[in-house]
Amino acid sequence: MKTSRTVVLAALAGAGFALSIASAALSAGSPVEERQATMKHVGQTMKEATAFTGAATPYDAAKVKSLMDGLGADAKKLKGLYPADSASDPKTAADPKVFSNKADFDKRLAEMGTLAAAAGKAKDTDSFKAAFKPVGDTCKSCHDIYRMKKKPA
Ligand code: HEC
Repeated sequence: MKTSRTVVLAALAGAGFALSIASAALSAGSPVEERQATMKHVGQTMKEATAFTGAATPYDAAKVKSLMDGLGADAKKLKGLYPADSASDPKTAADPKVFSNKADFDKRLAEMGTLAAAAGKAKDTDSFKAAFKPVGDTCKSCHDIYRMKKKPA
């Protein structure tokens, strides 16, 4: 009996090992891929949240808070996804100014998170609408400076 238990344990350990390799491979996307995927998630979150600025969608404070918390988490995550050596990646649409002006860039990400946290506290459609607008403004004002219109070919 002892032997078969060892075999089972070894098999389980093997499976766990394979799993950890698989998840390492998943998270090992380049910083450019990761930040683009995270920005896409940010865009999706904004779209979902926008519904709560209109009368057609009943206000759901808990849902809005979780969406806004998600934006805050994404803003924090994005901060670490612009290493200097990713500046000249052929797939990035990030302007070189991101890397020469990283402190201002990070400040803008932090502001996005702070404003999202404030919007997440809104109790009804009207107050959310007012608090959500400045969150959306942070997207455009950063993109105007730091995102190139077209990704390099
Ligand atoms: C601090 C600056 C900054 C802020 C704030 C910001 N973005 Fe971005 N965003 C960028 C940069 C830079 C890129 C290009 C990233 C790259 O290609 O490496 C980008 C790319 C994107 C993309 C394209 C992702 C892709 O598929 O490649 C979307 C969508 C996006 N942002 C949505 C948003 C939305 C919505 C907000 C506001 C809630 C926002 N961003 C806030 C800087 C910012």
